[in-house]
Amino acid sequence: MDGMTPDTLDDRARAILRDNDRGGYTVPTAGLYPYQWNWDSVFVAMGFATFDRDRAWQEIETLFEAQWPDGMVPHIVFRVDEPTYFPGPSVWQANKGPLPSSGISQPPVAATVIRMLAEQDSARAEALFEPLDRWHRWWHAARDPDGLGVMAITHPWESGRDNLPDWDKPGQAIDTSKVGDYTRRDTSLVDNDQRPKKADYDRYLALVQFGVDRDWDHARIAAETPFFVADPGITAILLRAERDLRAMAETFGRDTNAIDARIARLEAGHEQLWNPEAKAYCSRNLRTGAFAPDGTSASFLPLFAGVTDRKDELLETLDAFTNAVTYPVPSYDPQSALFDPLRYWRGPSWAMVNWMIADGLRQIGEDQKADRIRIDTAKLIRKSGFAEYFGPLQGEPCGGQNFSWTAAIWLAWGLNEISEGTD
Ligand code: GLC
Repeated sequence: MDGMTPDTLDDRARAILRDNDRGGYTVPTAGLYPYQWNWDSVFVAMGFATFDRDRAWQEIETLFEAQWPDGMVPHIVFRVDEPTYFPGPSVWQANKGPLPSSGISQPPVAATVIRMLAEQDSARAEALFEPLDRWHRWWHAARDPDGLGVMAITHPWESGRDNLPDWDKPGQAIDTSKVGDYTRRDTSLVDNDQRPKKADYDRYLALVQFGVDRDWDHARIAAETPFFVADPGITAILLRAERDLRAMAETFGRDTNAIDARIARLEAGHEQLWNPEAKAYCSRNLRTGAFAPDGTSASFLPLFAGVTDRKDELLETLDAFTNAVTYPVPSYDPQSALFDPLRYWRGPSWAMVNWMIADGLRQIGEDQKADRIRIDTAKLIRKSGFAEYFGPLQGEPCGGQNFSWTAAIWLAWGLNEISEGTD
């Protein structure tokens, strides 16, 4: 990227969002991900909001058009049939919503971003209040049926952190014997070393089949699935979203009692995910009670949610993570034997996760650490462009290129202000 002026990078980021626009919704990147993805769209809205507020709202509104009658907002919306993508709508067979979609959800960042946008457009935010509230209630009912105050995922893709080592052990309980033959598309578009392995993919497909066999009835899935893993990422993102929803409820003069009860449950629930050995919030297999062994980038998201009980220990762990790499925050503990610096969620750094972690650090007054992460994110993008994610050791661009959420974070986080050579 040498020789590019900062303005050129802002222009390029805007051009990426425009190019990935398919008319009211944005694809994460052309080719590899040809549909609308849930949390991608919400980050994208933050980027659009810096230059086209109407388009920012539209991005979230089109996502909510796919909301299921049970309240779930799906992780992928299949508005067009793209035979180049696998597994597409004919594999998911999830026809419960108004639009073809996948049968699972993704991290609920929407309320947080809608609240940010609401300051200038309260009518459009108010129109989304009920759908948001229904989605949040869906999480509690479908992913925490026992009221533990922690959110489970029923598929690794629901976490948004698809092939994190955390899902390996719990995934061993999944029966893959009926998966059969299939042809992946991702490995023809991106280097094999950066994508999940076949054994992981078999499990992903077996879990899709499991949902199809239960007609995507989420109460049944939660009761019967062998894969039900409490995720600190979803739990923290939902808690933060509930707080933002509550703030909007107050602005709109609505009752907050039900939201308050959900917030209290999630606040209390967090402690169950504290793994003293890893000194981190870790995922936990709800079928066995076992913790995942190591911290991940999601271990720091409770700070984003305003959970500060473990902040000193968490800051120590964060220092260990950041000191071991050049470009934080690695998605997996860099000191673990499972750390794999270029393979998807097993090590690389992601711009939008960095934004959430830095936000959490600011909430506890750790401005220096937050600045460090922001500057390093700007450096990564200057060095390697708007890649899907980055190698934390050398800053390599990984996965898809011209990626929407990386462009959006560049714009929304004002990374243009950080000039080349800043240390
Ligand atoms: C991958 C990521 C997921 C993201 C999607 C589209 O599946 O793991 O978080 O939403 O790609 O970018």
